[in-house]
Amino acid sequence: MTSEAGPMGNRKASYNSSVTSHSFALDSPTRRKLGYELINLIDEYFESLPERPTQLPEDHRTFEPLREPLPETGMIAAPIASGDLNVLARFLRDTAQELIDQGFHVTSAHYFGLMNPTPAYIAVLAEALVAALNPQLASMARAQLASKIEAQTVRWIGERIGWVEPFEGTFTSGGNEANFSGLALALTAHFPASVENGIASIGRKPVLYASGEAHHSVDKSAGLLGLGRNALRRVKTNDRVQLDLSALQEAITADRRAGHQPFCVVATAGTTNSGAIDNSAAIADLCEREHLWLHLDGAYGASAIFSDKHRNLVLGIERCDSVTIDPHKWLAMPFAAGVILTRHPGILQQSFGVSTSYMPKGTANLPLDNFRMSTQWSRRMNSLKLWLTLKMHGRLAYEEHIDRQMRLANDFARWVETTECFELATTQVLPIVNFRLKHPSLHEDLTRVHNELVDRVTCDGRRWVSETKVAGESVIRVMIISYLTGEKQLVELQQALHSAATAAMTQSA
Ligand SMILES: Cc1ncc(COP(=O)(O)O)c(C=O)c1O
Repeated sequence: MTSEAGPMGNRKASYNSSVTSHSFALDSPTRRKLGYELINLIDEYFESLPERPTQLPEDHRTFEPLREPLPETGMIAAPIASGDLNVLARFLRDTAQELIDQGFHVTSAHYFGLMNPTPAYIAVLAEALVAALNPQLASMARAQLASKIEAQTVRWIGERIGWVEPFEGTFTSGGNEANFSGLALALTAHFPASVENGIASIGRKPVLYASGEAHHSVDKSAGLLGLGRNALRRVKTNDRVQLDLSALQEAITADRRAGHQPFCVVATAGTTNSGAIDNSAAIADLCEREHLWLHLDGAYGASAIFSDKHRNLVLGIERCDSVTIDPHKWLAMPFAAGVILTRHPGILQQSFGVSTSYMPKGTANLPLDNFRMSTQWSRRMNSLKLWLTLKMHGRLAYEEHIDRQMRLANDFARWVETTECFELATTQVLPIVNFRLKHPSLHEDLTRVHNELVDRVTCDGRRWVSETKVAGESVIRVMIISYLTGEKQLVELQQALHSAATAAMTQSA
């Protein structure tokens, strides 16, 4: 190792001509020291998750911005110069520890929140490998095996949907991008010229339909695709919080009469608020009659296809023209992993295909490049984590995972029904339970009372539940999303809910 004065007067050390204290190139002992430090910390973190509080107590939470100046000389220079790697290891550990100590842990077994899972450990390792290899998924030629792994993972999902090849799909950054892509496919299918000539060339106003409970990514997508958010007709739901078929039919007829151009229906399998599943088979019948594209937002619920026992929850999924599925929800993958699939080969390329001189030239005997069938160009390998998890644990691990969460949610719903303070607000379909206080005198201001109750249950930071609205009515929402959540955590939650409800009722009596 040699050392010399750096440009700002500090000591600069080098191990060889290409490794300086400012270089990103670290030597093997340093890489190992830091890597082992981090992996040990991640291991301790995983060990803590069954009992880890989801966040700090309310009075310790701060939202102040960090105001440190940009570091000109990184802290890595001095320890490398002196050879004291412990300083670097400690810095890495302290940073990770602070993120843990002050973090919000959707990974905790006490997180009964939105659709954010505890990641499978194998998937965490896959993420590290992907970051290290950094395969450029844009083109087949530059990432042959990585692209083949992705294509195989897409094929596995498509086959579980019930499709027989040819079908196609591609990984996305999540449900938002997948839904956006699904609507783009619907537009291409109906108005092929609009890909080049734009929405204005269609003449009449293209309109699409989704239930009042569909995810807001559909509104965003309609806006971004140039349709305008008001092109999305929000159709009322029935008493099972499903897209109401007669209301849908009426809306389509009214739009046609007004001279508009219906082109797509978005069904949802697993709404964000209540986990309701639209009747895809019946909607598919209607779409066939009306010549409309059927996109299924199965970001959460479509994962039921990985369970032989519960796949009937999403009956009709195979009839949809395109499907969104987010492995980073029910399949316990770390962010980001979404997938858009379609049973119409060629339509992805028709929508996203583009070429310029700096892009790889398509080769006749190679499968289609990813960039020709996706919104993305430079692309991370979001598929390896799911591929590796399936290879190491097998589908049966998901069969068990899904069944266990279904049973826990069912037991929780039965508990709600037996309490004197709560009642179910919606039918429990997936591992999401919506309920409300049943004290009649509280009903005028249920939103306020529910929010106070949620604050009581969550203020010490141990657990997380939420208040939301289903078809406009306030409900308390509990979702079982972590594979670490078991009866123990649910009993504790029930006790907390019960005492908060008793306090709420006493206060307003
Ligand atoms: C039903 C549904 N669709 C789509 C999305 C968007 O997915 P993402 O957050 O992966 O973009 C969500 C997010 O929770 C969702 O609940």
